[in-house]
Amino acid sequence: MRRPVIAGNWKMHKFIADSVATALALKPLVANANHCEVVIAPVFTAIKSVADRLEGSNIRVAGQDCAPEQKHGAHTGEVAADMLRDAGASYVIVGHSERRQFYAETDSMVNRKVQAAIAAELTPIVCVGETLAQRDAGLAERVVKGQIDGGLRELTVSDLERIIIAYEPVWAIGTGRTATPEQAQQMHAFVRRIVAEKFGEEASQRLRILYGGSVKPENIAGLMAQPDIDGALVGGASLEAETFAKIVNYNAT
Ligand code: 13P
Repeated sequence: MRRPVIAGNWKMHKFIADSVATALALKPLVANANHCEVVIAPVFTAIKSVADRLEGSNIRVAGQDCAPEQKHGAHTGEVAADMLRDAGASYVIVGHSERRQFYAETDSMVNRKVQAAIAAELTPIVCVGETLAQRDAGLAERVVKGQIDGGLRELTVSDLERIIIAYEPVWAIGTGRTATPEQAQQMHAFVRRIVAEKFGEEASQRLRILYGGSVKPENIAGLMAQPDIDGALVGGASLEAETFAKIVNYNAT
């Protein structure tokens, strides 16, 4: 059985005080969510404060990015994976489409970041997904396969155990236009197939694949009902504790 993961990506939102307040508001609302891992990803500056206040709770903290370099040194502006761990994070989002689009992140950088995260004992949440133009051109599968081949290059089966993949179609991010559960399932099954070819069937069956792109309390249950959807990476709807808690508690009656 794959344990679902519901992760909130706060992107570049919230000062420290608001980050802590949201995390503290979330804590009791998801305290009984034993069916899944609950993760929030605040901005770098708020990670330590949020992680300290969540100690002993069932909510884990993620960074939104990390440096590709593992060795500390002259890399102005970068934050090493083990520094995130030092601040209290246990996950890190890597290769988000906003980083690929606006900060020229390549598959080989994503690959180095994944390796850095694993070396720091963080769980990387590796994001893949096609743009609308790529989907319309019939290239969705080819694009996603390229991102997986490049992003997971030279990883071992035991590395794969430490990884989560998030399929986030770019056309569904922040647009209110979610992939239908069937569209998402189709791509998730495809991702699992590629991973099986690379790492073997058994490892691929253990891999958690999250869906991201306009996930809301109204559509989470339909997505989670799909056999290859193992959780969600939530942007806008994770910024408010009550709304995010409804997504986490998608199975509540
Ligand atoms: P939205 O949920 O706001 O569409 O964002 C999705 C996302 O990019 C999560 O990483």
